[in-house]
Amino acid sequence: MDAPTPLSPLTGSRHRENVGPLWLGRFMADLPILVLGATGSTGRRVAAQLSAAGHAVRRASRRGEVRFDWSDRDTWAGALAGVDRVYLMAPHELPVEPEFVHEAVTRGVRRFVLLSTRGVVEMRDERLLAAERLVRSSGVGWTVLRPDWFDQNFDEGFFRPSVLAGELVLPLGEKKQAFVDADDIAAVAAAALTEDGHEGRVYEVTGPEALSFPQALDVLARVTGRQVEFRGTPDDYRAVMPADLAEEQIRAWAALGDGEPTDTVARVAGREPKSFHDYAAQAWEGGAWHD
Ligand SMILES: NC(=O)c1ccc[n+]([C@@H]2O[C@H](COP(=O)([O-])OP(=O)(O)OC[C@H]3O[C@@H](n4cnc5c(N)ncnc54)[C@H](OP(=O)(O)O)[C@@H]3O)[C@@H](O)[C@H]2O)c1
Repeated sequence: MDAPTPLSPLTGSRHRENVGPLWLGRFMADLPILVLGATGSTGRRVAAQLSAAGHAVRRASRRGEVRFDWSDRDTWAGALAGVDRVYLMAPHELPVEPEFVHEAVTRGVRRFVLLSTRGVVEMRDERLLAAERLVRSSGVGWTVLRPDWFDQNFDEGFFRPSVLAGELVLPLGEKKQAFVDADDIAAVAAAALTEDGHEGRVYEVTGPEALSFPQALDVLARVTGRQVEFRGTPDDYRAVMPADLAEEQIRAWAALGDGEPTDTVARVAGREPKSFHDYAAQAWEGGAWHD
């Protein structure tokens, strides 16, 4: 349990005065946890794991149980009403709005678990670096998750069309990635949202092994019978992407080293992370890539 923290310059005075044991009891027991991006890869799983563990959850997104839209401030108050913890994620290319963090703290949020990304510093990902700075300076408890590439990119996300088309183009050559399952990211997020001892921590969340994209696609081929050709040079990428975006991403990814596995999932979630093979086998059994 986190102790009451000092008032932040952002906080205002409303929720921190007269905090006592009764109120602290309520904090953990009753109040729903706001999960943003609740229809997405990680948010859906965070919400499911929290619910399964008996926590009240408010699932929010544009199509969520509670409507929340980053571009419509009128939707923020309803999402934030009566919550004290937030799984904070911004969809690809959108920033975490400083005004949202300010409003959340003003309304009584006392803990943020932020979805950032591994390599955020090396890649100079200003969008997510700014989000990290926001929660760090919010004046309330925070944990930053920096996951490696998600396994689910292959069946739910960006790479799905490429897998179905039989060709993936990414300027990463033989560089290795410690692909991580979104269920494991969610397990770390759920622990950080509900347990003591994770505040002020930055967690690199990875799977159990580092694989190059060609190696990952070999695993996929063994499991599914689908052969996906990998084209991994910068020129391959330039040939299929708009010029400015291609150059920006080639530069950012060139700064990445091999992504070594960490022990975060075992340490924080108390279980071994799922291997890429097991992810692929389970996704295949669940019907992924059959069409
Ligand atoms: N993919 C990777 O390998 C990887 C690795 C590290 C970090 N990340 C980071 O992870 C984040 C994406 O997380 P994810 O994969 O869990 O999400 P996701 O599957 O891409 O889904 C996006 C979520 O955001 C919601 N959303 C979209 N636009 C919105 C808006 N304007 N207002 C409110 N909600 C909106 C969507 O729901 P609705 O459509 O219902 O609104 C959905 O729930 C990105 O910031 C990315 O940089 C990704």
